[in-house]
Amino acid sequence: MVNHSREKYPSLVSENGKTALSEEAISIMNEKLPGIISQTDILILRKSAMDLLALIYKTPSSVSHPVTPGRLISREVVIAELNQVAASRTAERAAYYAKRLYRSLNHKRTGRVNDIDLSRWKEYDDIITDSLWIEKGRDRSSGHSAWYWGNFIPMIPRQMMQRYTKRGEWVLDPFMGSGTTLIESRRLGRNAIGVDLNPETVTRATEIVGATENPFQVSTKSYAGNSLAIDYHAIMKENDIGNFQLVILHPPYQDIIRFSESPDDLSNIEDTGTFIGKIGELSEKMHGVLQKGRYLVMVIGDKYSKGVHIPLGFYCMNEIMQRGFLLRSMVVKNFDTTKGKRSSEQLWRYRALSGGFYVFKHEYIFIFSRE
Ligand SMILES: C[S@@+](CC[C@H](N)C(=O)[O-])C[C@H]1O[C@@H](n2cnc3c(N)ncnc32)[C@H](O)[C@@H]1O
Repeated sequence: MVNHSREKYPSLVSENGKTALSEEAISIMNEKLPGIISQTDILILRKSAMDLLALIYKTPSSVSHPVTPGRLISREVVIAELNQVAASRTAERAAYYAKRLYRSLNHKRTGRVNDIDLSRWKEYDDIITDSLWIEKGRDRSSGHSAWYWGNFIPMIPRQMMQRYTKRGEWVLDPFMGSGTTLIESRRLGRNAIGVDLNPETVTRATEIVGATENPFQVSTKSYAGNSLAIDYHAIMKENDIGNFQLVILHPPYQDIIRFSESPDDLSNIEDTGTFIGKIGELSEKMHGVLQKGRYLVMVIGDKYSKGVHIPLGFYCMNEIMQRGFLLRSMVVKNFDTTKGKRSSEQLWRYRALSGGFYVFKHEYIFIFSRE
């Protein structure tokens, strides 16, 4: 159940943290813009745009609310658009910009797999469209902390859910670890199921996820179990899920970090071929529960073994592509140097210089669709 009524949150910021246009400003725009569009005299057009700008400036700007209940119309973007109308050289151009602005306020244009309103695409500057992500620092807000070694940054599931799901849809994370995906799914109003082999991790993550604000009243559930053996159909039945609309896979990067002693733990697999085979098996399972045409995301890095670069990422990518998925995009992302690693950074630099290799600073986000 989605709950984002404006009455409940009278003062809001849009999802990307920008100041939202107030209801009063929106009705002024809707009242005045049609008159501006029909004007043919550039001087009158410019003046009308300036008058409208002055009125908008007089309306109070909305105060921020800690919860992000939705993407409201950005005041900043509207002001920039009105300035564009006022600065136009010809009446045709000015009327065109005014018409475009009016349309963006009144006609939503969303795609098949997300809620991004393309009529207001300029407001989405928080959504990354480049394939190289350089991020510094972590989000430590609302439940996110560094208690789990091997977690990913919240920005990854957040960006993926914004691009590849609509509000109220279902996300599956079969390697949930500390529950980063589930925390972000609550913030964004997506339902999510998380699975992890380690029951203690699941218990702790469940507590943290449960304590995270849930403004859209979505469902987030975690299960302890082997993601290669767990009965997804039973979970789906229990939660009344037809299909998942997004799968996020963040498996161990083979044996780089050992997560437990369990023989089922993918981090205990020493042979790379066996590890890749397991990823293949899992992606076949995911194929069976993911809605056709929807997305599967895999976050993984490479490893060195006996002085040789093992391209784990590309091996897994290839395996998934052979299991009925199309590769749609590939992102290369830097990773945070953790406190522990920072102290040994100079040692690694020396080793790299003497051994002729490069210290890993990147990992991959592969984005596939189920065909
Ligand atoms: C890289 S971590 C995922 C971290 C997570 N994205 C987060 O932000 O906390 C990989 C997780 O996979 C889990 N794992 C390993 N083998 C598994 C298996 N066969 N089934 C389910 N979970 C497994 C580990 O316990 C670990 O929590």
